Amino acid sequence: MHLMKEYNANILGHLPVLLKNALAQASKLDIKYILTAHGVGWRGETIAPLLEEYSRFANQNYRKKVTIMFDSMYGSTARAAIAMSEGVKSTGAMVEVVDLKACSLTAVALHMYDSACFAFGSPALNSTMMPLVESAIGYCRGLKLLAGKTGVIFGAYGWAGAPTINDMTEALKKCNANVDEVKLQWKLQVNDEVLAKSYEQGVKLGMKALEVGK
Ligand SMILES: Cc1cc2nc3c(=O)[nH]c(=O)nc-3n(C[C@H](O)[C@H](O)[C@H](O)COP(=O)(O)O)c2cc1C
Repeated sequence: MHLMKEYNANILGHLPVLLKNALAQASKLDIKYILTAHGVGWRGETIAPLLEEYSRFANQNYRKKVTIMFDSMYGSTARAAIAMSEGVKSTGAMVEVVDLKACSLTAVALHMYDSACFAFGSPALNSTMMPLVESAIGYCRGLKLLAGKTGVIFGAYGWAGAPTINDMTEALKKCNANVDEVKLQWKLQVNDEVLAKSYEQGVKLGMKALEVGK
């Protein structure tokens, strides 16, 4: 199931109409096996939950889940990401924290495709965002994984943070995402106030995910 989700998130997840058509055809058949051209084969009692998952993809029924993606050089943005995830958890929504240094873009899509909400964290780097954050946003854009979803931007800066926030906002606009007005940005290391604000943002995202997720 994990492999199927990863495959679909990266290949078919953004083509719900094609999936719906295929499912309509499939519903007329007594299916014994599903042998995909490439990917996992299915038979017997594994088929019903598989079709259910395909149907979730096709109908864009996102889970009550928030995916928080970030990169960080000295750990400040990372600590805020963890605090945010605690805020999400406190609402009862699911949360996935993705350290982009340790996660492939394929896995980013896997975590993001069924999430109702998202967050992107990046410290300021050379007057823009971290390259891994830029590439994750770009990858999600191509797969339409952020379209119509609510998210927040956060991250540390050293001396001038505005260009980073502007670039992230612009990049997310191109994804047709709804980015929260509040841009959570602070100078250098996090303090208790920043951690508390990150937690609050997590609570907000968690509540939204509970509202729109299925
Ligand atoms: C190579 C490099 C480039 C940086 N460029 C900027 C910049 O353009 N603007 C800025 O305000 N801070 C800049 N900083 C400072 C970082 O944004 C700051 O140290 C931040 O707290 C790092 O957050 P982190 O702990 O999440 O990595 C830069 C730092 C490094 C190491």
